[in-house]
Amino acid sequence: MALALALLAVTAPPAQAQSAEGVPQFNRTCGRCHPDGNEDDGPDLHNKNLTVAEMTRVVREGTKHMRPIRPTKLSDADLARVMVFLRSIHAVR
Ligand code: HEC
Repeated sequence: MALALALLAVTAPPAQAQSAEGVPQFNRTCGRCHPDGNEDDGPDLHNKNLTVAEMTRVVREGTKHMRPIRPTKLSDADLARVMVFLRSIHAVR
């Protein structure tokens, strides 16, 4: 239910004024492996153009080389904020 609400929240198109939303959460939870722009260990997420569902799956279930990030570490509400940032760099559509 909380996840469904978070998904609903992130499917609304972000207003321009909200473009900085999610940046602190991204920097805290993702930024050490996925720096915003510069090259580093994790892949650059710019223009990945994933769906919100695909992105949610990567974050919550992980991949071969990325461990899952649980709601205890990043709440659904904070993940929704991260999605706003990810949309601004076209990591999600
Ligand atoms: C501990 C390091 C680490 C953290 C923290 C981390 N990632 Fe990753 N992430 C990786 C690595 C390494 C890969 C490449 C995974 C692979 O090849 O299996 C990856 C892959 C991804 C991909 C797939 C990219 C592609 O090529 O399709 C996405 C999307 C992603 N991460 C998003 C996130 C988001 C969003 C967060 C924060 C909520 C996050 N990651 C946090 C290390 C991390």
